[in-house]
Amino acid sequence: MNRVIARSPGRVNLIGEHTDYNDGFVLPMGLPFETVITAVPRLDNKVCLRSEGYGEINFTLADDPKTIKFWGRFIAGMAKALDYDGTTVPGFEADIRTNIPVGASLSSSAALEVAAGFAMCAMAGVKPDPVRIAKLGQWVENEIIGIQSGIMDQLISAVANKGSATLIDCRSLETEPVTLPPNATVAIMDTMTRRRLADSEYDLRRASCERAAEELGVDKLRDATIDQVEAMADGIDRQRARHIVTENTRVLAAVEAMRAGDAPALGQLMNQSHESLRVDFEVSAPALDEIAATAREHEGCFGARMTGGGFAGCAVALVDRNHADQFKAHIESGYTAPDGEVPNVWIVEPSAGASVTTE
Ligand code: GLA
Repeated sequence: MNRVIARSPGRVNLIGEHTDYNDGFVLPMGLPFETVITAVPRLDNKVCLRSEGYGEINFTLADDPKTIKFWGRFIAGMAKALDYDGTTVPGFEADIRTNIPVGASLSSSAALEVAAGFAMCAMAGVKPDPVRIAKLGQWVENEIIGIQSGIMDQLISAVANKGSATLIDCRSLETEPVTLPPNATVAIMDTMTRRRLADSEYDLRRASCERAAEELGVDKLRDATIDQVEAMADGIDRQRARHIVTENTRVLAAVEAMRAGDAPALGQLMNQSHESLRVDFEVSAPALDEIAATAREHEGCFGARMTGGGFAGCAVALVDRNHADQFKAHIESGYTAPDGEVPNVWIVEPSAGASVTTE
């Protein structure tokens, strides 16, 4: 083997936010933006990483991944995860490139973990199992990075379908491709605001959901009904639980709307999801609210919402294909970032999940 080339995409989530760690449903799709790792195995246990624009990072496989700086920690973490899971990874040299905007809620870290997992499996002579690598990527986030995130980002990066979004049941990890309404396309709108990686608000939301599940006597909020939630004592946990339970219902309704080719119905569900995230789950932000509102003003927009963990980064809109260019121009002129920048807007098609080739 001379070298391996592994690639893994970023994602945008159409609907189903913060439901993944409640064993619920999500509906993300792979993006045409990806991270590509070109790696050559070494005979020792050194790992030498280079990335244009992001510098060089060197470590050995014996090092504690938590001591590795910056983006190297995701790769060192994945090597450790594979090792604990029975796959011995050799040392290697790698060149890493990405065109996924970092910190924009498009899962650049999950793509890095999954691409690294695919590359390392190929170098270890093991066929990469996408679900296994996704679970190991989640372990890296939880145990090495220290964020109690769910499985959505890693799993969609690993299994995304070209040409369709993917319904994921985050309890069984079963996935199903769901195509967009034929007249609709997806726009990603970058507020140009960024959040810090280690987000304590995320873990607070998760803790609130766990308390609510316990209070209701269910394993996860996936198992709760809206009547049960409404009967809870007034307070933050009830509010958070209401978002989760209604969001799961919206994801399933969104799948029905997509199957019926009903773009306006899907758009309405996206708008409702945003409101629930803003009011009940409280993970939106003024810039996200503003860009979503600007999107909804346009006649070609079926619906818009924040996407991903929240607080900053991107929003997503469902847009009439025939109006996509005017829509993009409308956002570029109608929304101004806090520091005056013109926002990035991308019209995207659902793209394939991770892969690796060996030369
Ligand atoms: C982040 C996490 C995911 C998911 C989303 C919110 O992207 O990594 O697991 O919880 O937030 O839906």
